[in-house]
Amino acid sequence: MLNLGILISGRGSNMEAILKSIKRKKIPINPSIVISNNPNAKGLKIAQKFGIKTEVVESKGFSGSRAEYDKKIISILTKNGVTQKNGLVCLAGFMRIISPEFVRKYKNRIINIHPALLPSFPGLDAQKQAVESGTKYSGCTVHFVDSGVDTGPIILQKIVKVLDADTEETLAKRILQKEHQAYPEAVRLFAENKIKIINGKTKII
Ligand code: GRF
Repeated sequence: MLNLGILISGRGSNMEAILKSIKRKKIPINPSIVISNNPNAKGLKIAQKFGIKTEVVESKGFSGSRAEYDKKIISILTKNGVTQKNGLVCLAGFMRIISPEFVRKYKNRIINIHPALLPSFPGLDAQKQAVESGTKYSGCTVHFVDSGVDTGPIILQKIVKVLDADTEETLAKRILQKEHQAYPEAVRLFAENKIKIINGKTKII
């Protein structure tokens, strides 16, 4: 079975949705390790409740380069069986840009969730960007990670209507509900080997 590594920085609600789905035997994957760059991430406690091993590689005050930081992450992933051959890495609210070395090493094996319909509103504060733009629809996107920010082949998206009365917070709340459906679904598609990448686009088979 594939081994899953999840990288978090905070709340960990997407991680929790994935772990719940695995526990209910909906996804054929072994949750090996949860790593946080933030020792105070609430998600660490949630992972422990699920009986999943956790590690912290604190990024605050880390004096080395991005590649050096990622080397530490890669070493923990590898030790826990999350390898280039038999692993999947999920970024779930991991608030760091990962190095090209990391992306290369786990080519097409790192996925991310973004709270907007990419390629619209990449980067930070996606829900705020959506509200301010006047768009009528937003949502979430699960995508493979490449060396860009929120680029990379799109696996699946879910749509949320933007209401006239929406604030960043109210929209974020409704998008998050869709994220909790989308991320486990994408992990399942990956684990069942149903995602092909052809010319930079995914095909779900
Ligand atoms: C989510 O909105 C996700 O789309 C974004 O960061 C947030 C993480 O939330 N990348 P959580 O830690 O999964 O609750």
